[in-house]
Amino acid sequence: MLAVHLVSFFFTKLKEDPTKKVDRFLHAMRLHDDQLNDISARFQAEMKKGLSAESNAAASVRMLPTHVRSTPDGSEKGQFLALDLGGSKFKVLQVKVREGMGIRKGGVEMDEKTYSIPKEVRNGRGSELFDHVSESLKDFLLERNISLEKKHPLAFTFSFPCEQSALDQGLLLSWSKNYSARGLQGKDVVQVLRDSIDRTGGMDIEVLAMVNDTVATMMTCGFDDQYCEVGLIIGTGTNACYMEELRHVDLVEGDEGRMCVNTEWGGFGDDGALSDYTTEFDRDVDDASNNPGRQIFEKMVSGMYLGELVRLVVLKMAKVGKLFDGRVSDALRIKGKITTAHVAAMEEYKNGLTNTRIILEELDLTPSDDDCVAVQHISTIVSFRSSNLVAAGLAAILSRIKKNRNKRGLRITVGVDGTVYKTHPQYPKRLHKVVRRLLPECHVRFVLSDSGSSKGAALVTAVAQRLASRKRQVDETLSSFRLSQEQLKLVKARMRAGLEAGLKTKGPSAIKMLPSFVYHTPDGTEHGKYLALDLGGTNFRAMLVNFKKGLQQNARLYHKIYTIPLEIMQGTGEELFDHLAQCVSDFLDYMGMKNARLPAGFTFSFPCEQTAIDTGTLVSWTKGFKATDCEGHDVVSMLREAIKRRNEFDLDIAAVVNDTVGTMMSCAYEDPQCEIGMIAGTGTNVCYMEEVKNIEKAVQKKGKTEEDKGTPDEEQDKADAEMLKMCINTEWGGLGDDGSLDDIITPYDTEVDQNSVNPGKQRFEKLTSGMYLGEVVRQVLLDLTRGGLLFRGHVTETLKTPGIFQTKYLSQIESDRLALLQIRSILQQLGLNSNCDDSIIVKEVCGAVSRRAAQLCGAGMAAVVDKIRENRGLDHLNITVGVDGALYKLHPRFSGVLKETVKIMAPQCNVTFLPSEEGSGKGAALITAVARKKQEM
Ligand code: BG6
Ligand code: BG6
Ligand code: GLC
Ligand code: GLC
Repeated sequence: MLAVHLVSFFFTKLKEDPTKKVDRFLHAMRLHDDQLNDISARFQAEMKKGLSAESNAAASVRMLPTHVRSTPDGSEKGQFLALDLGGSKFKVLQVKVREGMGIRKGGVEMDEKTYSIPKEVRNGRGSELFDHVSESLKDFLLERNISLEKKHPLAFTFSFPCEQSALDQGLLLSWSKNYSARGLQGKDVVQVLRDSIDRTGGMDIEVLAMVNDTVATMMTCGFDDQYCEVGLIIGTGTNACYMEELRHVDLVEGDEGRMCVNTEWGGFGDDGALSDYTTEFDRDVDDASNNPGRQIFEKMVSGMYLGELVRLVVLKMAKVGKLFDGRVSDALRIKGKITTAHVAAMEEYKNGLTNTRIILEELDLTPSDDDCVAVQHISTIVSFRSSNLVAAGLAAILSRIKKNRNKRGLRITVGVDGTVYKTHPQYPKRLHKVVRRLLPECHVRFVLSDSGSSKGAALVTAVAQRLASRKRQVDETLSSFRLSQEQLKLVKARMRAGLEAGLKTKGPSAIKMLPSFVYHTPDGTEHGKYLALDLGGTNFRAMLVNFKKGLQQNARLYHKIYTIPLEIMQGTGEELFDHLAQCVSDFLDYMGMKNARLPAGFTFSFPCEQTAIDTGTLVSWTKGFKATDCEGHDVVSMLREAIKRRNEFDLDIAAVVNDTVGTMMSCAYEDPQCEIGMIAGTGTNVCYMEEVKNIEKAVQKKGKTEEDKGTPDEEQDKADAEMLKMCINTEWGGLGDDGSLDDIITPYDTEVDQNSVNPGKQRFEKLTSGMYLGEVVRQVLLDLTRGGLLFRGHVTETLKTPGIFQTKYLSQIESDRLALLQIRSILQQLGLNSNCDDSIIVKEVCGAVSRRAAQLCGAGMAAVVDKIRENRGLDHLNITVGVDGALYKLHPRFSGVLKETVKIMAPQCNVTFLPSEEGSGKGAALITAVARKKQEM
């Protein structure tokens, strides 16, 4: 009895189930769901690392931005050539895309030819590889009778990791799979391709877009299925891409919308993150590969390595006596003798075992039935592990998308391609099942990419082509705003001529050069309490300034801001000045000083003819003011009369000053080198200290008032010495009113001028100041929209509304941080519905207009500083410009471009810009202090 049992025991031992034996041997390759979840979590962490700017450089999963911002929307169209390099086949294609039709409805037609790439070319010199590619392209054109004369847009599927900063550019980071051509790493492969096409010659090809195969696969499937937002390749190599929220893609500017990210997940584990899951067989495959230590995940998953893994396991099991009675053939020892195609054949339903026997016999082995079952099972474990790992990776991506969208469930389609997925009989089913098990709450659909990635590449290219032609047209429109150095030199020369002409008494001059009767900058002896009123910038300000003798930094200021309603700006003069008197009354109440008859300085930021410091006749309104009965009248008297009419308080208005003059004085209080004042705000203007001898009009006036000229009196000499210079309010905004800027004025500027309250006047100001820049931008946007290049061609009422773009919006639009998001929300606020591409164009338009403004002011300033330098007979001048205005202070680029231009245009001057801290009011108060001191003397 016992003997019978023993015999049966040995029999069962000998007849052990061959699959169990393999299971035990390969237990490390059999991954359970908890392990898959663990791998999935690790992959999620790697994705995060790759997306972040700080950790990207060190990340093994590179998460490369692709610059593909949307999946197909059906509007793509055109005829393209395509190259598909990097999968198991190299193909040249012609792809025709018809608008508005899915692939299945015949929206895409393709004609393709496969060209071989010899191993020595794949692994030879990079330029030879690309020459081979471009010669194949030419062969295709000739064979298919495609015109060589015509220009052909080309889409390039290049299935290797590339760092892209645009769709038509990509630096090869490293080769993978079976490619290792020399001299291309770090190079822009699009350029390399263009160079090769040029070398081959005889073709006119425009390479418009380069995409990874995963991206192209996603796009192909996305043409028919709007839910397709993931592309997956399980072929020679393996990889996945997906649509990520742009706000998470640190390496690309912008927060709005999505961008496709090429994960390059083949590199997962290159930093050891998978070392507890890799087996001795994985390590052997890696050691013997082209790229040891790299693409660890790919080597566990993809077609290039699966057969080899199976061979190494079979070899090892045979060597330890678990297969073929311990016999090993020479063929089995040779790398590559078992391929992924063999693995697929061995796992075929019904014929699998027969196939296995044939394959093993071809390797000079004599397998038993059990050996065949065991080897087939090895294949199953190896390929099952592959699909399990892909499922874990996909689960990580899908969970991320789900989290991004803040959704409990997710409906999504994965576009898939690659020989393993397409030819292995069990692979797709296993993969789908595990993904659905790992993510029960997601509705995941898998769609096989319909004949390769080239359609997708063509779709990307169609969008790129549309964008490229749009960019060309936008560039063309904006080219008239881009000034050359020569043009800027001309502007400087014209400004200089204008300054000189304005100083003369005879002849009209576009630049008025108004004497200010301010003869010197502050000396620190000013003291006392003064009221300053400030009209003409964005707001009206009333201010109380208290100077303490010798304490330059300690002037105390109290102020209040009042807005001037449009109806007051453009009503009657009396209404305007009554309104000012009312604001002053309010301010005095606020300060509790109604009864103190304070000396007051009046900053009045419009051109005034002055004959003394306390009178000023308004020459003409600027900047949108047009109150009646003011031009030709003394504004000080008008203010005095309004105060009198109010009969409530009294003021001693001792000085009227332009804002430039006030600003210069205010800054000169801190910096004695400050002899220029500049405003870049609602309007633009400059004042500077000119030699009195050069001011014909002032010299005449001085002669009239000083009857005792020539008296050898010490006091008089001192007074004369003090009056060697006088501040001139240039009113440079008028440059061009005589037509001298007509060659740089664009039709958009003309439109803005025509729609203004003072057509034909202040032409320089209308090119450079805050009040007009937004309008210039609006005119350009209108034109671009009418041309169908913006806002999908919809010219809305909002866009037709004058004044919608204020300077503050321009400043925000051009700021770098959060730019795209801000632009879209600003445009939204303004009632303009924009997409990402629209916002990029709007930003570009703002940039061109504001840069031109800053450059023109720079050229103008260069003329002013050079004049001062020459006045003083100096080779080199150090000078400070006191500056104010919202454009200078708030715009992110204006001041930088201004300074840069002055430096280039006036190389013999060292110009420092000092922003005015308290506005021009303090300066006006200083002037008042001096005027009152003089009176007291
Ligand atoms: C093809 C695509 O169908 O699949 C290629 O057109 C891609 O772009 C390839 O690289 C991936 O699979 P395999 O098996 O050829 O590497
Ligand atoms: C203010 C000055 O700070 O700047 C005003 O006090 C001046 O006098 C103004 O007119 C200019 O800037 P904006 O941007 O208000 O026109
Ligand atoms: C390799 C490449 C990757 C490609 C994949 C599939 O992993 O690095 O770019 O997508 O193979 O072809
Ligand atoms: C306008 C005015 C000028 C003022 C400038 C800045 O150009 O004419 O006087 O200085 O705006 O406010």
